[in-house]
Amino acid sequence: MPEINLERRIKRHAWAPEHRFFAVTAPGLEPLCAGELAALGALDIQPEPGGVNFVAKLETAIKANLWLATAGRVWLRLKDFRVRLWEDLLRQADSVPWEVFITPGAPLNIQVSLSGSNLKHTGRIAEVVGQAAANRLREIGLAAPVPAEPGDETAQRLQIRGSDRRATISLDMSGAHLHKRGWRAQGGAAPLREDLAAALLLHCGYDGSMSLLDPMCGSGTLVIEAAAMARHLPPGLGRAFAFEQWPCHREAAWNYLKRQAVEQALPAPPAPITGRDSNGEAVDLARGNAELAGVGQGLVLETAEFFAAEPPAGSGLVVMNPPYGKRLGSVRQAQDLARRLGERLAQAYPGWRCGVVLYLQEWVELLGLENPSLITAPFGGLHVTLLSGTVRQK
Ligand SMILES: C[S@@+](CC[C@H](N)C(=O)[O-])C[C@H]1O[C@@H](n2cnc3c(N)ncnc32)[C@H](O)[C@@H]1O
Repeated sequence: MPEINLERRIKRHAWAPEHRFFAVTAPGLEPLCAGELAALGALDIQPEPGGVNFVAKLETAIKANLWLATAGRVWLRLKDFRVRLWEDLLRQADSVPWEVFITPGAPLNIQVSLSGSNLKHTGRIAEVVGQAAANRLREIGLAAPVPAEPGDETAQRLQIRGSDRRATISLDMSGAHLHKRGWRAQGGAAPLREDLAAALLLHCGYDGSMSLLDPMCGSGTLVIEAAAMARHLPPGLGRAFAFEQWPCHREAAWNYLKRQAVEQALPAPPAPITGRDSNGEAVDLARGNAELAGVGQGLVLETAEFFAAEPPAGSGLVVMNPPYGKRLGSVRQAQDLARRLGERLAQAYPGWRCGVVLYLQEWVELLGLENPSLITAPFGGLHVTLLSGTVRQK
């Protein structure tokens, strides 16, 4: 058996070089995610439909997992190559330093997707790549990975994609979808997904310096995301990531990174953040979620009816995710609600910045915001629109 110095290989193949990565986003959120990646110091940032390509050292990609609010997952591109023949795939798969990234003896889930590729037979491709990883680990005395049981969420995930004459072999860094921040105990009636909530806030230009109100906060997603942004707390602080299982993972450096983020965070939001809901149980749920998320400090959560309550003092940003779908009964009722919301905003919140999550395009006109700007993203079989604008003067 060849003598190997795994630590040296880890340095050489994982930590020293720059790698290519792909951050998956909901279609529509790519520019926001690209902005987040630029702020993290990623290089060669190239959005494409469904995500953002970038180049970085592994350390920056780890920070991306921890900090990205609008992404769903980060893939490490182990290989990106031209492919004509089987031999191309074999050669590339054999040259991956698997021992640095694949956990010996652990379940490995290999997914293959092809569109117009020279390569055919997804099962055979998965077998060839899995075999290359197994051989490399066995050669140096480590246990080969085992095929994952269907539905095993803890398995390492490897993805092979082929299209035209190119193929990629990528390893999932994230594990569970990144919108799962780790704090949500219960969803409430219709919780907004966290990446969409963060996207609405960023789309509205929220940076924590202006006061913020969500008058229909439900389980609190928007105010919790806002509080994390305002305090500079990483969204992923309370969750686990797939890269923590990699042989190259450095636990002490990872813990230091998280500790440093917490130490540098603000103890409370610099401007008020208020969540309200007419349903007292929703407010209790939001309070519990905010505590679990570690952002309860400085949040105001209260039971209030939007059409009756006065706005908090001053001006700022009002964001909301009003009821939608079947809950509203008929199309007419949905239109009435949008019109009434627009009127109440104009009456009580003139000049406020405003962000609304909506599911019917006609709401944009009915709400009547000035300078409307839209992002449309698919979400759970619906098309969700993130609307940002300014409340008109009545
Ligand atoms: C779609 S849910 C909001 C979900 C929330 N964004 C979350 O992530 O959990 C709509 C919320 O609006 C609240 N709501 C409906 N009409 C309201 C009103 N007139 N005043 C205040 N809250 C209202 C409901 O109680 C419900 O919690």
